[in-house]
Amino acid sequence: MKITLSFIKADIGSIGGHIQPSQALLDTVREVVEREGKGLIIDSYVGHTGDDIAILMTHTEGENCEKVHKLAFDAFMEGTEVAKKQGLYGAGQDLLKDSFSGNVKGMGPAVAEMEFEERPNEPFLAFAADKTDPGAYNLPFYLAFADPMYCSGLILSPKMSKGFTFDIMDVEYTEGDRMIRLNAPEDLYDIAALLRDQERFVIEKIYSRETGDIAVSISTTRLRNIAGKYTGKDDPIALVRVQGNFPATGEVLAPFSIGHFVAGFMRGSHNGPLMPVKKNSPTSYFDGPPIVSCLGFCVKDGKLTEPADVFDHPYWDYVRDRVSQKAEEIRRQGFFGPAMLPYSELEYGGIVEKMKKLDEKFFIREGE
Ligand code: 13P
Ligand code: 13P
Ligand code: MG
Ligand code: MG
Repeated sequence: MKITLSFIKADIGSIGGHIQPSQALLDTVREVVEREGKGLIIDSYVGHTGDDIAILMTHTEGENCEKVHKLAFDAFMEGTEVAKKQGLYGAGQDLLKDSFSGNVKGMGPAVAEMEFEERPNEPFLAFAADKTDPGAYNLPFYLAFADPMYCSGLILSPKMSKGFTFDIMDVEYTEGDRMIRLNAPEDLYDIAALLRDQERFVIEKIYSRETGDIAVSISTTRLRNIAGKYTGKDDPIALVRVQGNFPATGEVLAPFSIGHFVAGFMRGSHNGPLMPVKKNSPTSYFDGPPIVSCLGFCVKDGKLTEPADVFDHPYWDYVRDRVSQKAEEIRRQGFFGPAMLPYSELEYGGIVEKMKKLDEKFFIREGE
């Protein structure tokens, strides 16, 4: 059976600052998806990571289906009403438009979708990150899909020996989707050269070169490009199919033990290490650290199993301790150097005004 996974997330308000949504908010979103999705959605799952609510839906309508996107938008709109009633912080934060028009992409929410013919067994992972942006997945998915040091399957499994195709987007370009398609392993250095710049070039999709099947889909929204100002970070989600022609679950998870530095953290303006967390985790220290959750599912005829919370394991407690230490270490230097993002990444914030005023006070010294 050919099915579509639509994974859509938004921050529509949270308790105690940018920490976590209320139970009433989660219940409302879940209830709207179930009520309004009858006859359209086969199955769904609603959860949160930090202050972002993510809706996972299965259906047969393909990617960019207006009805499916509208359903998510309506659920977030109804949730926003609850958030306002409860006095939640940032009610409707990620909804940049009040009425739906065609596609929820570009209206604020993050969207990751994929359509495929279900395999006899169909395991996949749903990642959701908070206090960071889509480039956060560049390193882990580069390592999981192109580097045998992390993905031993690239040398052990004949089904993966042809490698993977990467669709990479230039998210600085705002006139349209500026894309490049590169193949691992032969374009490896080109892929690496682009992906090192986590703020500009982000992976959108990855395909198996053995079968052409979709393996990965990542949300690539940059809210500031839509809103023209800072409206919160573009907390990204991702879908990843695993096993068979794709890396094993553990090979996809392995790079997340690095706790690599990503953009985000407090006010979306700092660098911090990405911490793998259990499902429905809040943020805390310095509005962070940047966090990522991951749920494993299997799907049959569009019906989802219950989720497996893959970062809920003693191994990841050890990783979280190490990531906390990295967070401590970079926070000790406050706003200096790489602890805070470069000016180009802050240009939509208040610092622009300050720099304009200071600019007028500069003078060129005479006589030298
Ligand atoms: P099993 O033999 O448990 O299926 O494991 C295969 C595999 O892919 C392990 O990474
Ligand atoms: P969110 O993007 O998660 O709402 O966080 C915004 C922020 O400014 C945190 O300090
Ligand atoms: Mg928020
Ligand atoms: Mg958030």
